[in-house]
Amino acid sequence: MSKVSIIGAGFVGSTIAHWAMISGGCQVVLVDVVDGLAQGKVLDLIQAGPIAGHSIDAVGTTDYAETANSDLVIITAGVARKPGMTREDLVGINAKIVSDVVQQVTPRSPNATLLIMTNPLDTMTYLAYKLSGFPRERVVGQAGVLDGGRMRTFIAMESGVNPENIHTTVLGGHGDEMVPLVRYSTIAGLPLSYFLSPEQIDRIVARTRDGGAEIVRYLKTGSAYYAPGAAACKMAQAIIQDAHQIYPASVYLQGEYGLEDICFGVPVVLGRGGVQRILELELNDEERAALMRSADLIRSTMAHLKL
Ligand code: APR
Repeated sequence: MSKVSIIGAGFVGSTIAHWAMISGGCQVVLVDVVDGLAQGKVLDLIQAGPIAGHSIDAVGTTDYAETANSDLVIITAGVARKPGMTREDLVGINAKIVSDVVQQVTPRSPNATLLIMTNPLDTMTYLAYKLSGFPRERVVGQAGVLDGGRMRTFIAMESGVNPENIHTTVLGGHGDEMVPLVRYSTIAGLPLSYFLSPEQIDRIVARTRDGGAEIVRYLKTGSAYYAPGAAACKMAQAIIQDAHQIYPASVYLQGEYGLEDICFGVPVVLGRGGVQRILELELNDEERAALMRSADLIRSTMAHLKL
């Protein structure tokens, strides 16, 4: 059975643990710096088992020794944004937290794949890649699965078609300049324009970009966790089940899409050992320019890192 450590037992971390219980097939270690938080959440989760008909082999702890020899480490530790904040505003405080976490987990699990959830996502993935010394295949950030899920939801709302029929592609950084690629998004294989007017498509693109902030404005004290948790769970399953599934993920680029020395959301094949292949889509000038704007925003955030 694969061992999955989830670092951070807040909203995102505990939601991932819940999804892990429902999905089954892995042993979970939930870690938080706050004494009692991970222990309490795991006890609650275990007690949900007999009621809901699931079971989970899980430990909640403050002690990183429990994470030893994990196959997958999911990093959610960090602060979430509040209304009016961008993900980029979190860089200072979360860089310190992610650095601490990477230094704790990587010597104990030298063969693990790291799945980063902490924002600003692409910059934190870059930091984890640099500090871990792991090959780039084993450090991935979750963004496009969530953003693509949001876009599917909004397309379903506007078109009236079941979201299961909807395929979306959202690339680039997990920030306001993310790139929902309309040309690579379809409804049952048909172009979006078959079902939607240009105005509807523009509205969907804008709402996808603003999807996280829309929820922050409602919640006021934190950010989304159900859909981010579901997205992490999908990527985790692909990795531990060696599923060879294609998902967008933030990975360290070495010339792909004309970009170097940056973690950026691109389509990848995910399986055991993390990224098995990076897919390069053919882009038109407008799409390429949008990706470059997104990369510029990430680079301006990365400038705050002290490596
Ligand atoms: N080690 C372990 N846990 C830590 C550490 C650390 N060094 N520092 C902070 N934490 C824990 C906090 O104690 C808290 O329980 O991380 C948890 C974060 O949980 P929340 O505050 O509920 O935040 P959450 O909504 O889960 O978001 C976490 O994911 O989506 C991103 O932008 C979001 O960066 C944020 C992260």
